[in-house]
Amino acid sequence: MDWGMKNRLSRLIQKDGHCMFLPIDHGYFQGPTRRLERPGETIAPLIPYADGLFVTRGVLRACVDPGNCPPIILRVSGGSSIIGKNLAHESLVTSIEDVIRLNVAAVGMSIFVGTDYEYDSLVNLGTLVDDCENYGIPVMAVTAVGKELEKRDARYLSLCCRIAAEFGAKVVKTYWCENFEKVSNGCPVPVVMAGGPKCENELEVFEFVYDGMQKGAIGINLGRNIWQHPHPVAVMRALRAIIHEGATVMGAKDVYEQEKGE
Ligand code: 5RP
Repeated sequence: MDWGMKNRLSRLIQKDGHCMFLPIDHGYFQGPTRRLERPGETIAPLIPYADGLFVTRGVLRACVDPGNCPPIILRVSGGSSIIGKNLAHESLVTSIEDVIRLNVAAVGMSIFVGTDYEYDSLVNLGTLVDDCENYGIPVMAVTAVGKELEKRDARYLSLCCRIAAEFGAKVVKTYWCENFEKVSNGCPVPVVMAGGPKCENELEVFEFVYDGMQKGAIGINLGRNIWQHPHPVAVMRALRAIIHEGATVMGAKDVYEQEKGE
């Protein structure tokens, strides 16, 4: 691996081999998602605890201070909206020149395995990897499920993750699921977990993150379960305890209760 590629990955994946990415890219198909209406305000208190920020170029330029931000993972795919015909119908929507101009640590795009647009999204991933390899920029593939949340099982997600790695993704973002070891064992590159729609309570989040970390995930790319929570900083600090400090679920709960009280 070239020096530039290694350097960018090491900005995102910390010395312990783990990472905690904060995604705020949801607006690219959902519009002003709840609690992300003003992204700059939502993320300001969370920035100190994020190892990376997953964001589109529009929000990056409009809402993120270039002098005070974690390494950036730039979302570069899009083209469909929540009210459109098919969420899987995406293309690459950001040029490699703009990726370089923005000095990002990595780029991210969605793949839609098993949909009508499977072929298009996988070919787009190949194209993006080609463009980014030229400049030492890692690609994070997002195994998207669109509106079909029930697809989140080990059989489907292990297929998606493995395909993403075969196409050259350096990191794969997927969902936590039962038997998560089947997903991580079948994927030769690091896997991070997203959260999906907000869970009932923070304990549920700590439980699935802890379980996934025990079963081979290197970290999270978790959005709504953090910034839609009434105490996002406390949740984030508790999750950091699991990811970077080896805390158990109860240990994370203690951190959460302590931070919440402050
Ligand atoms: C949206 C994304 C998000 O980055 C990803 O889903 C993580 O966010 P959340 O934890 O809210 O699901 O790729 O397309």
